[in-house]
Amino acid sequence: MSAQPSSTDNRPERARERNSMVTNETTRPQIASARIVRYGDLRPCFNAFIDTRTPGSDKKENFTIIGPGVSENPAQHVHISEPHGFNIGGARQPPGCTNSQHSHETAEVFFVHSGQWRFDLGEHGEDASVELNPGDLISIPTGVFRGFTNIGTDTGFLWAVLGGDDPGRVLWAPKVFEMAKEYGLVLLDDGSLVDLASGDAIPPGKAPMPPTSRDQVAALSRFTPAELEACVARAGASGPKGAMGSLPGVADTVLIGSGRMNWHHGFKVSKLVIEPSGVVPSHEFTGADVWFVQSGTVEVSIAGESAKVGPGDTITFPANSPRALRNVGQARAELVCVRTDNRAAA
Ligand SMILES: [Fe+2]
Repeated sequence: MSAQPSSTDNRPERARERNSMVTNETTRPQIASARIVRYGDLRPCFNAFIDTRTPGSDKKENFTIIGPGVSENPAQHVHISEPHGFNIGGARQPPGCTNSQHSHETAEVFFVHSGQWRFDLGEHGEDASVELNPGDLISIPTGVFRGFTNIGTDTGFLWAVLGGDDPGRVLWAPKVFEMAKEYGLVLLDDGSLVDLASGDAIPPGKAPMPPTSRDQVAALSRFTPAELEACVARAGASGPKGAMGSLPGVADTVLIGSGRMNWHHGFKVSKLVIEPSGVVPSHEFTGADVWFVQSGTVEVSIAGESAKVGPGDTITFPANSPRALRNVGQARAELVCVRTDNRAAA
């Protein structure tokens, strides 16, 4: 794979690329529109999971931006279904709303776009807690109960990455099953939900999923507060310089894939800061390449087409095709980049 920009030290070459991006603005927009999920176009699901009627968790919105993720609602809208080797999703919650304690079979990473959040680890959230703010990132390893609550005063949005094309099923803490019983949602043994309160019935041949057993709970990992803090990269944190880090006006910091958070995820995560007029010139990449705009206004060039993107937007570049980014705003642009990591699991 080659993540290296095609031009890092040739100023005339960069100028030609900059001009090329401008002239491409009038070309066909079909590819770009199909590969950008704008924040304003996100379609929420209010009943993606077994806990979505339980008081305290009933106001959460779940988004499947790339891939179906671990949604338990087969009717949930998936914005881009093309397999990437990882799934991109989102959670939007009002103040006080909690996503219940659960565990995953693959890595789960959250990037805080907006709001103040507390992540709690343990069956009841009693093991370790950490508070995150916009620009912070947390990577929670497999096989540990985690939940998260909006502890701020405004609605907040988390952008999330789950490893693998099929990240498996959610393992809920036993209490989640107990609390959901009263509200008519039943999780079946195939991982899908049935809403008895709306008149649906359990289909023939299906059975409710047994609540998580004490043995399953005992098999999960438990984290100390210090171990949890090691899973967090704060906004502005330093780290290894990424492939784009030598470009003028561009800071590229690797958050996951080397340095402190180097355990196997199946994907790498970097944070890029592009100064006004800064450019990531045209280059290609062989794997999945997804970007999230945290702040600023950026013109992206996707396979010869250009489009402007802004805060909350997600972009996926097709493999083996030229892509470029240019800050066209007055302020710094901050972006998160998720790319395939083909290294074998340790
Ligand atoms: Fe999760």
